[in-house]
Amino acid sequence: MFESRVNMYMYEETFEGQKLTEVVNREHENVKYLPGIKLPENVVAIPDLVEASKNADLLIFVMPHQFVRGTCKTMQEHIKDSALAVSLIKGFDTAADGSFLMISKMIEDILSIDCCVLMGANLAPEVAEEQFCETTIGCKTEEQGELLKSLFEKPYFRCSVNVVAIGAGIVDGCKEETFFESCGVADLVATCHGGRNRLLGETVVKSDKTIRQLEKEILRGQSFQGPLVAKDIFKVLSQKNMLERFFGKYMLL
Ligand SMILES: NC(=O)c1ccc[n+]([C@@H]2O[C@H](COP(=O)([O-])OP(=O)(O)OC[C@H]3O[C@@H](n4cnc5c(N)ncnc54)[C@H](O)[C@@H]3O)[C@@H](O)[C@H]2O)c1
Repeated sequence: MFESRVNMYMYEETFEGQKLTEVVNREHENVKYLPGIKLPENVVAIPDLVEASKNADLLIFVMPHQFVRGTCKTMQEHIKDSALAVSLIKGFDTAADGSFLMISKMIEDILSIDCCVLMGANLAPEVAEEQFCETTIGCKTEEQGELLKSLFEKPYFRCSVNVVAIGAGIVDGCKEETFFESCGVADLVATCHGGRNRLLGETVVKSDKTIRQLEKEILRGQSFQGPLVAKDIFKVLSQKNMLERFFGKYMLL
């Protein structure tokens, strides 16, 4: 059903004097960001974004959210009109007027294609180690849901599909049951137990170091997404005069 070769756009970096894409394609291992995990040989790292994405039918976004806008702008004129996007990205951005902007909506607006979402109580190292995880796929039509379920589901990675009909929009998106899916409270529990932002919280109170210093020491080039998202949430809440409702009167004092 699917092409066997998977092009993986990879932001080029130097690792121990060599190009990271060359190391990944030779060793079949992302020695910088996911050491110790062998990647299948059909996954090919490509440093040129246009080259990697121009013939793709499915575009899977899984990068830190601050890079999505620039990435989409580079791809804008080069992708297939019929392509479908899937975002695995947590966090959100803010629109020009300061309002809340979902990453999937940003992808749709820049690329003019549908963007589904895959999100759940799963941490990358656990998925890579094939530990049992589950996730929710949010999409607009049943066909998209079936396609993506057959792409992502594995015995150790259970996918449930939540079709949010176009037009039902926000009302459907806010259904109470969504809160009890993998992308809801379960994701919150997973990230509070094992995520890297939890590690940041614990370390920041035990040391006198700044977030930037800790990022360099603990994450070896990755970044904590939590502080960036917290900043955006603060911006949106201030703009809507909702700080007190969110944090409580005394917390703000
Ligand atoms: N959907 C889910 O269930 C789920 C679970 C875990 C994580 N995530 C999300 O996946 C995303 C990626 O998480 P991660 O743990 O791989 O993050 P990470 O910090 O490990 O990401 C590093 C990646 O960013 C790339 N990068 C660095 N600079 C770049 C640039 N200028 N332009 C483009 N790419 C650049 C690097 O090549 C590397 O691949 C995050 O948005 C995270 O929220 C989703």
